[in-house]
Amino acid sequence: MELCRATTTLSWTNSISSTHSLHLPRSFSMSQAKRVRVYCASDQTQKGNQMTVSVTGATGFIGRRLVQRLQADNHYIRVLTRSKSKAELIFPVKDFPGIVIAEEPEWKSCIQGSTAVVNLAGTPISTRWSSEIKKDIKQSRIRVTSKVVDLINNSPEGVRPTVLVSATAVGYYGTSETQVFDERSPSGNDYLAEICREWEATALKVNKDVRLALIRIGVVLGKDGGALAKMIPLFMVFVGGPVGSGRQWFSWIHLDDIVNLIYEALSNPSYKGVINGTAPHPVRFAEMCEQLGNVLGRPSWLPVPDFALKAVLGEGASVVLDGQKVVPARAQELGFRYKYPHVKDALKAILS
Ligand SMILES: NC(=O)c1ccc[n+]([C@@H]2O[C@H](COP(=O)([O-])OP(=O)(O)OC[C@H]3O[C@@H](n4cnc5c(N)ncnc54)[C@H](OP(=O)(O)O)[C@@H]3O)[C@@H](O)[C@H]2O)c1
Repeated sequence: MELCRATTTLSWTNSISSTHSLHLPRSFSMSQAKRVRVYCASDQTQKGNQMTVSVTGATGFIGRRLVQRLQADNHYIRVLTRSKSKAELIFPVKDFPGIVIAEEPEWKSCIQGSTAVVNLAGTPISTRWSSEIKKDIKQSRIRVTSKVVDLINNSPEGVRPTVLVSATAVGYYGTSETQVFDERSPSGNDYLAEICREWEATALKVNKDVRLALIRIGVVLGKDGGALAKMIPLFMVFVGGPVGSGRQWFSWIHLDDIVNLIYEALSNPSYKGVINGTAPHPVRFAEMCEQLGNVLGRPSWLPVPDFALKAVLGEGASVVLDGQKVVPARAQELGFRYKYPHVKDALKAILS
């Protein structure tokens, strides 16, 4: 990897000429000098299958792992963030030597020359929903998606990204204890469904020449974040057990699998349109809790009261209290290979 980085720097140095237009973010410090070199190189000397990927929400639960995955495969990464200083702590230069970190005024120059954009940004949903937060949950997603789409559409041909992978959620389908939802199912009637529809409609405004993959993500299970990090302490306090009736559906996906799905969508031209980002075996919540209890070595016979979950997740608890059974029909048609198709193995891998 070091050798590769050195080669990249060398080819950048050699390839600079007066005819190149360099899209540099305005304020680069000396400590970012190495980042600048790779940033330029990616436009000029991209080789083979190497991509330059701009990512919004890169500092989040899914984004961090995606960045690690892209970095491991030597792709060029541009982190589009609201806070450069926060992102620099998450992606320190010593571990991410080639990464570019940019705040909003610099997003334009990052998106221009990127091969692809991944859009993950948005105010967290699993919080207490005051009317202000509720508005922000929707507006943050629409605003960032709209900005990204405008920047892509207004990029001159030749430096315009050719792929947009944009997050949305299984909340699109509304909730049900009996129905099974795939990508062709209609949208639901609740607020999360409304958010997802508007979020997707905004992404759909991207130029028709840009391949768009809309990933309707389920509840992502991983270490140190997401729903599981909030559920485990509760589970320990209440000895564990299903929340509510336990019959509600839980459409989950392991963090590695959602990252692999996004990664595949970046590079495989067959991945376009709506793709459910869920595991092939959703479970009822009672089963999820039983498996969690087994892995944690706790019995799973006392139900966690709704009020306890609402206390930590607020109205966002509806994601867990009223679920939906979502199947990944499209990912399976595309032959996507899951590392963790079953929740038991996913939980074991996360918690062992
Ligand atoms: N995790 C799940 O289980 C799950 C399930 C379904 C859908 N999704 C969707 O997938 C996306 C990524 O999920 P995640 O769990 O990785 O999210 P996350 O950890 O909450 O991170 C999202 C990122 O969005 C940015 N952000 C936060 N508030 C914002 C605001 N008000 N305006 C603009 N940007 C803001 C932040 O990046 P900066 O501070 O760097 O700007 C943050 O790191 C989200 O849109 C989420 O709704 C996730």
